[in-house]
Amino acid sequence: MRDLDRFAWDRLPQEMDITVERNRRLDELVAAAGALSDAAGSIPDAVDGIELSAVHRTAFVSLAEALREQALRLRASAAARDLRQTEIVLREIDASCDSCHALFRQPVSSR
Ligand code: HEC
Repeated sequence: MRDLDRFAWDRLPQEMDITVERNRRLDELVAAAGALSDAAGSIPDAVDGIELSAVHRTAFVSLAEALREQALRLRASAAARDLRQTEIVLREIDASCDSCHALFRQPVSSR
C-alpha cells in the first residue's frame, strides 16, 4: 500500500506538469491558427493583378478559402482541448498546403 501511495505521489505532479505544458502549447496553437486564418483570408489578394484563367482563379481562391476554414476549425479544436480533432485538422491543413502548391507553385527544380 505504501508503494502504491508513493507511486501515486511520484507520478501525480508529473502528470500535472504535462497538463500545464500541453495547455500552454494548445494556447500557442490557438494563436497560430488565428493568425493562419487571417493570412489565408488575404491569399486571394496575391493573385489580384495576375493574369489567370477564370478556372484557375476560382480553384486558387477556393483552396485559400478551404485553408481559412480549416484554420478556424483548428483554432476551435485547440481551444476546446480536443486533441483528436486537432490532429485531424492539422493533417487536413497539411494536405491543403500540398494541393495548392502542386497546382500553383513552381517546383524548386524549375526555378
Ligand atoms: C491557395 C494556394 C496556397 C495554399 C493554400 C498554400 N500555399 Fe504556400 N504557396 C503558394 C504559392 C503559389 C507559392 C509560390 C509563391 C511565389 O513563388 O511567389 C507558395 C509558396 C510557399 C512557400 C515559399 C515562400 C517563399 O517565399 O518562397 C512556403 C514556405 C509556403 N508556401 C508554405 C505554405 C504552407 C505551410 C501552407 C499551408 C499552411 C501553404 N503554403 C498553403 C500557394 C499556396
